[in-house]
Amino acid sequence: MRRRLAAGNWKMNGTAASLSEVEKLLQAHVSPSVEILLCPPATLIAQMNWKKGQHPLALGGQDCHAEASGAHTGDISAAQLRDAGATFVIVGHSERRTDHKETDEQVRAKAEAAHEEGLVAVVCIGETLAEREGGHTLDVVSRQLEHSVPEGATGENTVIAYEPVWAIGTGLTPTSEQIAEVHQALRSRLSARFGADAAFFRLLYGGSVKPSNAAEIFAIPDVDGALVGGASLKAADFSPIIAALE
Ligand code: G3P
Repeated sequence: MRRRLAAGNWKMNGTAASLSEVEKLLQAHVSPSVEILLCPPATLIAQMNWKKGQHPLALGGQDCHAEASGAHTGDISAAQLRDAGATFVIVGHSERRTDHKETDEQVRAKAEAAHEEGLVAVVCIGETLAEREGGHTLDVVSRQLEHSVPEGATGENTVIAYEPVWAIGTGLTPTSEQIAEVHQALRSRLSARFGADAAFFRLLYGGSVKPSNAAEIFAIPDVDGALVGGASLKAADFSPIIAALE
C-alpha cells in the first residue's frame, strides 16, 4: 500500500553538464513500480523538469523558506519550487540543522509551507554519533518526529527520512537491526499520533546507501525506500539502487 521511493539528494553538486546523468537514469527506469525523486540544486530544477518531458520522475527542492515570499535574500519559497517543477521538498536535513541551526519548530514551519503549496515534505530526522553512543537514539528521533512533523501531515503529503548523522557521507551504516529498531519506533510514534493513517507514511533510510548495501537495507521491515546522497549523482550508482527497490 506504500509505493516505494528512491530519492536522490544532490546537495550542492551539479551544473547543467550533470543533466546527462538524468538522461541516462530516465532511459534505464520507466517502470512505475517505484517512485523516483531527484532533488538537485534549485538552479537545475526547471532544466530537469524540461528534460524529463513525460517521464514520471519527480523533482524536489532541498529546502524552502517558511514564508511564502518577501525580503529573504538567498532563500527560496515552496511556491517558487513548485513553479520550477518541483512536487517535493526536503526539510530539516541534518546539514541544514547543523549549518543553519534549524530547529524542529522551524523545520515544522517549512513543512507546513510546503503543504500549503501542495508539495510533499520529506522531513529528515536522525541522531548524532554521541547521541547513539549515549543510548539516546530513540528519544532523539521521537522528539524530532514529534516537533518537526506538522499536525496536518498525512501519508500523502509527508515522507519521513531517517538519516543517522554519523552515517551521512561516511561510508558507515547502522546494522539492519538498528535501522529496523528505529523504523519500527517511528511507525509506532506515527500510529500514536495519526492513528490508522500512520500506515500510509513512507519511511526512508538515508546515510551511505550504495549499490552494494541497498538490497539488504530495502529488505528491512518498514523501510520504504532511501534518501541517497553521493550515490545519486551518477546514474551508474543510483540506477542499481533504484533497481533494488523494483
Ligand atoms: O540526504 C541524503 C544524505 O544525507 C545521505 O548522504 O552521501 O551518505 O548517501 P550519503
